[in-house]
Amino acid sequence: MQDIFDTLILGAGAAGLFCARQTGRRGRRTLVVDHAAKPAEKIRISGGGRCNFTNMNTTAKNFLSDNPHFAKSALARYTPWDFCDLMASHDLTWQEKTLGQLFCDQRSGAVIDMLLNELRAAGAELQLETEIGEITHADGLFTVMLNGAPVQARSLVVATGGLSIPKMGATGLAYDIARQFGHDIITPRPALVPLTFSGQIKDAFEALSGVAIDVTASAARGPAFDEALLFTHRGLSGPAILQISSHWRESEPVTIGVRLHEDAATALTDLKAKAGKKTVANALGEVLPRRFADMFAFWDGMPGDKRMCDLTRADLDAYTDLLNSWQFVPTGTEGWRTAEVTAGGISTRDISSQTMESRHVDGLYFIGECVDVTGWLGGYNFQWAWASAAAAGTDA
Ligand code: FDA
Repeated sequence: MQDIFDTLILGAGAAGLFCARQTGRRGRRTLVVDHAAKPAEKIRISGGGRCNFTNMNTTAKNFLSDNPHFAKSALARYTPWDFCDLMASHDLTWQEKTLGQLFCDQRSGAVIDMLLNELRAAGAELQLETEIGEITHADGLFTVMLNGAPVQARSLVVATGGLSIPKMGATGLAYDIARQFGHDIITPRPALVPLTFSGQIKDAFEALSGVAIDVTASAARGPAFDEALLFTHRGLSGPAILQISSHWRESEPVTIGVRLHEDAATALTDLKAKAGKKTVANALGEVLPRRFADMFAFWDGMPGDKRMCDLTRADLDAYTDLLNSWQFVPTGTEGWRTAEVTAGGISTRDISSQTMESRHVDGLYFIGECVDVTGWLGGYNFQWAWASAAAAGTDA
């Protein structure tokens, strides 16, 4: 007679490892499986190797979901401070880089080691290089084929993540399992991803590759973000662009406000007074990166080689508008290859926000990135992984 686990967790990423710690501590016999050779590879590469493990300002407003209220309960019950307490209990320390983003001083590997130590201390088991096959459910038990052999469990937690970065082992398994058990999927799309362009715009941006400017960026939907924009040889990246990419939809424009040390109209009036004999391009080059000013001053036929003192009221108004709301339409995104996360995913409609349990099948849970809850850039996605795992961990 084969063993029966209380809880079988599919996926040894951030959410799966943390959930195993929670269920193990409740005395549940827990097994976590993953097809990869190493656990939590996305934690390892996160935050440039320093893992932006949470954000101090986390609220449900920092997440995209068809149901903006869904994440509230889990986020309120497992907070950034709870995770900081856990880190501190392992003598890990952190720094706030910007905007509430906390990075681990001991680097990402230390966060993974902490999760693995917690998992072991809780008595949970981890099995890597495991292919997950057919899943069936009967008489209150899940039977899952693991490397060709059946393993049974009373609770099944799906934590296999989204589709971003297939090279790192991302698959659509969570969506297949959700569909099998009658759940709807909100079409997954690459998010926190650079935007790409074609034609003249691509050429203009490519020529500025490596230049960064401070902007207020927004897509046709979603909030505006005050962060940096980076020109790349493929198009636009940088935190401001990654943030709006999650809200952007094909053929919609994006709007960039170019941020100066004062508002655009005042800045232009000041430049006209102080640098009247300079061309617009040269004058803008005093307050913006030179290469950017040379391109921007001539955008869409604007008179960038006119002297500032010769600008008419209409010219000044046009430059003010351009600085405040520079608009263009991206061709697409860099796609799954570089997207940091997946927006969309398993609809929250038939999942309990208290426990992450399926409303269709008792004992089936979905946590982490596979669920239609997508954080902004800045540690929010890991906080969702911890919080949703903690919620399921109270029940699974
Ligand atoms: P995650 O993807 O971590 O884990 C899923 C696991 O399931 C993987 O181990 C995978 O191998 C396994 N799996 C998948 N399919 C399987 C199958 N068919 N069979 C068996 N196993 C399978 N977030 C943040 O908050 N701060 C940050 O600094 C960063 N930085 C960052 C950088 C980069 C480059 C990326 C790509 C992403 C980030 N993120 C981030 C996002 C963050 O990494 C992500 O949201 C979480 O890892 C999601 O955790 P999950 O456990 O849900 O999925």
